[in-house]
Amino acid sequence: MTHYDIVIPGHYFCDLIFTGFPHFPALGSEVYTQGLTITVGGALNTVIALHRLGVKVGWVGCVGTDMFSRYVLDIVEKVGLDTSLVKRIDEPYQRVTASLSYPQDRAFITYVDPAPTAVDLILEVQDNISFRHLHFTGFQLDPRTPDMLAAMKARQINVSMDCQDRPITLDTSGVREIISTLSVFMPNAKEAMRLTGTDSVEAAGDALKSLVPSLIIKDGANGAFTWGADGYIHLPPLSVTPVDTTGAGDVFNAGFLCALLEGKNTAECLRWGNICGGLSTLGYGGTSTAPNRAEVEVVLSQLV
Ligand SMILES: Nc1ncnc2c1ncn2[C@@H]1O[C@H](COP(=O)(O)OP(=O)(O)OP(=O)(O)O)[C@@H](O)[C@H]1O
Ligand SMILES: [Mg+2]
Repeated sequence: MTHYDIVIPGHYFCDLIFTGFPHFPALGSEVYTQGLTITVGGALNTVIALHRLGVKVGWVGCVGTDMFSRYVLDIVEKVGLDTSLVKRIDEPYQRVTASLSYPQDRAFITYVDPAPTAVDLILEVQDNISFRHLHFTGFQLDPRTPDMLAAMKARQINVSMDCQDRPITLDTSGVREIISTLSVFMPNAKEAMRLTGTDSVEAAGDALKSLVPSLIIKDGANGAFTWGADGYIHLPPLSVTPVDTTGAGDVFNAGFLCALLEGKNTAECLRWGNICGGLSTLGYGGTSTAPNRAEVEVVLSQLV
């Protein structure tokens, strides 16, 4: 039975990022851009960032027969990721975003083929593998989630969950129950405030902290907050001049979880998260500048 440090069920995205253009195209017209960057993202942001940090990570995802899937698989194989949990579907499985990227803001157009949920994906493989930690890149409001989380607890597998922009609050049926079964809950500030109906990170933290042993709230250029075994900590971000913040939260999660798997304390985990998330903003997409371990250690040595 293959053993993984961490398993992440979720879908790829292929992002086509157009940069440097004079104005948005009007209907019936065409604009030429100065640059085009193609990146892979979605669940792969956290997966690839963890792999680069040296963590044995199992990606439970799907690829199909289309060119985007083939491109993603090519990247995944080139970086040396384990692909034994990747499901090959015998039809197109396209998940594509075209991003028109202005320096201050972006417009997106996205297409996705129908896909199984992350809960479907993990239920399919969970009995055939062993792992210490399970991470969900978005909130899994699914009637099967409580039983699946209980089964993980029985196997002493810790579970973390990001939130992503989902239309849920603490009053949505099942939400409190699910958060209460996690080891780590890691929304961003906007998601935490929406979930709790509050208008500050502190108030959101107060509403959530008693539900889960470790609560992390990511707040972009304000760094990150935690409420947990070591009490309340706010850590300012890495001082960087971002090029593109897409996927910063996902790469923060990779840094945080890598440190957690190594038994580091919460403040150190938060620092690893801030370093990885901060460095990821220096290139387009989540993973182009996600650091390896040596790069994290260089930054750590400069901080002390
Ligand atoms: N402008 C920035 N300067 C320094 N660090 C940043 C900046 N933006 C993001 N980060 C780092 O990345 C982390 C996550 O960023 P953010 O709060 O934007 O996550 P997010 O909104 O979940 O991102 P996404 O969902 O796009 O991956 C922050 O906590 C911080 O450590
Ligand atoms: Mg996020």
